[in-house]
Amino acid sequence: MWVVLPLLCAAAGLLGPPACGATDLYASSLEKVHFKSWMVQHQKKYSSEEYQHRLRTFVGNWRKINAHNAGNHTFKMGLNQFSDMSFAEIKRKYLWSEPQNCSATKGNYLRGTGPYPPFVDWRKKGKFVSPVKNQGGCGSCWTFSTTGALESAIAIKTGKLLSLAEQQLVDCAQDFNNHGCQGGLPSQAFEYIRYNRGIMGEDSYPYKGQDGDCKFQPSKAIAFVKDVANITINDEQAMVEAVALFNPVSFAFEVTGDFMMYRKGVYSSTSCHKTPDKVNHAVLAVGYGEQNGVPYWIVKNSWGPQWGMHGYFLIERGKNMCGLAACASYPIPLV
Ligand SMILES: *[C@@H]1O[C@H](CO)[C@@H](O)[C@H](O)[C@H]1NC(C)=O
Ligand SMILES: *[C@@H]1O[C@H](CO)[C@@H](O)[C@H](O)[C@H]1NC(C)=O
Ligand SMILES: *[C@@H]1O[C@H](CO)[C@@H](O)[C@H](O)[C@H]1NC(C)=O
Repeated sequence: MWVVLPLLCAAAGLLGPPACGATDLYASSLEKVHFKSWMVQHQKKYSSEEYQHRLRTFVGNWRKINAHNAGNHTFKMGLNQFSDMSFAEIKRKYLWSEPQNCSATKGNYLRGTGPYPPFVDWRKKGKFVSPVKNQGGCGSCWTFSTTGALESAIAIKTGKLLSLAEQQLVDCAQDFNNHGCQGGLPSQAFEYIRYNRGIMGEDSYPYKGQDGDCKFQPSKAIAFVKDVANITINDEQAMVEAVALFNPVSFAFEVTGDFMMYRKGVYSSTSCHKTPDKVNHAVLAVGYGEQNGVPYWIVKNSWGPQWGMHGYFLIERGKNMCGLAACASYPIPLV
């Protein structure tokens, strides 16, 4: 019986709340087993009080994942490093709390007429995209979107793939409306690099994941910006052109709870907003394509290579999904 019961639970768990075991308990024995193995995998240790609270949150997330995956959706969900956290907690730690000045970014990018290739992936064209990084518990996504875009821009121009210092942007870019771990915008960070005369490398200005004093040394700057291309608000077709012809593009969008559990497939949402005041996360579009009639963007995230599809996700293209066309930009490097 001991062995059979959990298997029954597993089947029931796919359809909703577990139907076996004592119904007054909030976690089945199978769910507890899954939580324990998740804890081992993510090297988590809790006090016994916190354990109860984390178990409860984990089980809530686990059931959402199973219910979602049993339905007919263009993307699958899965467990990851966020699975013991509520969305409110994730928002505080990882996302922007204040609206950023997205709509203040004035467009200067002039779009041509196409046509554009149906599939583009800068990761496959050569060594143009650096490995996925991890922002940790700091709302510094905008710095990773910025370095990612500039790293690619320089690699495309020179053939040399650098790794640039997010921490310099966290510590030093305040004069351009950026706020360290509280948020910022890639377009404003490109302006900072342009007028600051450069950005240092990851090795000479290592990432700490918390706010700190500016330690920029001009003599150690290794990358420079000549100009910034700001894509006109909500012109998603211009983003397609820019990615097709020129460079990966930095953009922002609104992350909602379901996105945190993304595992693979084309992310799509009916609950997120499309307006520039709601975007709360910045990332990097490195390509686009189409799958079963659904057009998508290929996007580099900054939550480590374990999250999503080796650190990447796909998101539906052509509908300004979650406001993704509200503030897009890319740098023109000085090389
Ligand atoms: C799943 O959704 C797709 C697209 O909305 C639809 O074409 C397909 O028929 C659905 N399949 C099932 C089994 O409901
Ligand atoms: C938006 O821009 C205004 C004016 O430049 C500035 O005062 C404000 O701090 C900015 N807000 C954010 C969140 O960056
Ligand atoms: C691009 O956007 C940034 C940030 O809003 C702004 O400072 C800059 O002036 C814009 N560039 C152009 C050419 O409009």
